[in-house]
Amino acid sequence: MSRAAKTSTPILSVLAQRWSPRSFDPTKSLTLADLTPSFEAARWAPSANNAQEWRFLVGFRGDATFEAMTEHLSGWNASWAPNAGAIVVGMFEDDPENKARDYAPYDLGQAVAHFSVQAHADGLFVHQAAGFERDAMAAAFSVPESWKPFVVAVVGHLGAPELLNETLLARETAPRVRRPLDETVFTEPFPSV
Ligand SMILES: Cc1cc2nc3c(=O)[nH]c(=O)nc-3n(C[C@H](O)[C@H](O)[C@H](O)COP(=O)(O)O)c2cc1C
Repeated sequence: MSRAAKTSTPILSVLAQRWSPRSFDPTKSLTLADLTPSFEAARWAPSANNAQEWRFLVGFRGDATFEAMTEHLSGWNASWAPNAGAIVVGMFEDDPENKARDYAPYDLGQAVAHFSVQAHADGLFVHQAAGFERDAMAAAFSVPESWKPFVVAVVGHLGAPELLNETLLARETAPRVRRPLDETVFTEPFPSV
C-alpha cells in the first residue's frame, strides 16, 4: 500500500514517503538503540538561541513506562498506539519570565520533525499525537512544573491495515490530501478569503 505524497514537484524521497499510520505491527519491538539515530537527529534540530529546550521521555512496549503512557492517551489514540514499539513524549520548557523561551514549542516541533524524518529513513513509522492528557502524563512521570508534555510520537514498524477496526481502517486508507501550494505561498499581501 503506497501512501506516498503526490507532490507537485519532486521532493526528498523520505519526505514524500513519510506518513502517519495507525496500524503498527504488534509482533515487532524496539529498543533505545533503534531510536538513537532519531534522537540524534532531533538533537541537531535548530532552535531559537540554540536553547534546545526540549526533552523526550520514551517507553518501549512491554515496559512500565510505555504501559503508563498508554493510560493517558485520549480517544482513538488509546486504541491504536499500544501496538507500537515505542511512545515518545515530547516536552518543552515553559518560562513566562523569559521572552527568549517563547519559541520553545516551535523548537520542540522542529526537533520532532527531525526525529520523524530520521525514523522514516531508518524504516520506522511515526504518528504524532496531541490527543493525550497532558497534566496526567506530567504527573505520572513527576515532570517538573516548568516542563510541558506537548506531543507524543508513536513509533514502530508498519502493521497491516486489516488489524484496525472499520473506522480506523477507513482513515488509514483515505486519500492523503493537502492544500495546494498556490493557496499556501504568496508573494503579495495576505490574500483575502
Ligand atoms: C501536533 C500534531 C498532533 C496530532 N495529533 C493527532 C492525534 O491526536 N491523533 C491522530 O490520530 N493523529 C494526530 N496527528 C496526525 C495528523 O492527523 C497527521 O499528521 C495529518 O493528518 C497528516 O497525515 P500524514 O502525517 O499521514 O501526512 C497529529 C499530528 C501533529 C503534527
